[in-house]
Amino acid sequence: GGGRKMIVGGNWKCNLDQAKAAALVEQLNGMEVGNCEVVVAPVFLHIPMVMNTLKKDKALVSAQNCSFTGMGAYTGDISAEHLVDMGIQWVILGHSERRQYFKEDDEMLAKKLEYALSKGLKVIYCIGEQKEQRENGTTMDVCKKQLEGVAKMLNPETVVIAYEPVWAIGTGLVATPEQAQDTQKSIREYIASAASPDVAAKIRIQYGGSVNGKNCAELAALEDIDGFLVGGASLKPEFTDIVKACS
Ligand code: G3P
Repeated sequence: GGGRKMIVGGNWKCNLDQAKAAALVEQLNGMEVGNCEVVVAPVFLHIPMVMNTLKKDKALVSAQNCSFTGMGAYTGDISAEHLVDMGIQWVILGHSERRQYFKEDDEMLAKKLEYALSKGLKVIYCIGEQKEQRENGTTMDVCKKQLEGVAKMLNPETVVIAYEPVWAIGTGLVATPEQAQDTQKSIREYIASAASPDVAAKIRIQYGGSVNGKNCAELAALEDIDGFLVGGASLKPEFTDIVKACS
């Protein structure tokens, strides 16, 4: 929407074995992308294989997470420097599953965003409310709080916001077009005040949460939706339909 270039992300999460990931890459190599920017995020271990086989004019590879700081004594972590060294250009930060299961909070995520950007990565930064918050009318308070500490870092060239209502993730309960558009418009308005009107006008906001081949076209037509971050459907052939709807 809004004349911004559409961007679709396939977040493979902690899924697929090597053979299935390779088969998915083969499908992606046949998709029509038109004017849509596409990134896919395999598990770290599969990234080299995917980068070697996925055609770069179809999609680029993203990591699903990275460290808050550089290389060093941080057992189990992977730093932005490692990603850059591997030729990876994108990273997803702040996914609700990282927030929920790995206790990443806004303060930690602000550090991650700052560090990743300082190393030249592009970032898909995820926000979104939980079911209870949607029901008690605090959706925008939650989204503002998640953006507050990073507002000054929002650069339309290097950051994409993914609005993913937590209740819509993996549930089949997609937000209605009205819910998605209204919330994303409010997020853009908040960015206008917390960053600048220019940043707000240019920054891309994806919708994520139970997007599939059937519901994507209606959502893609909305003014403040600039693409999608797709989980479940990104593992299936219908991902190519979602990309097509944005091409
Ligand atoms: O990051 C994308 C994701 O959280 C949405 O998942 O399975 O509802 O498309 P899904």
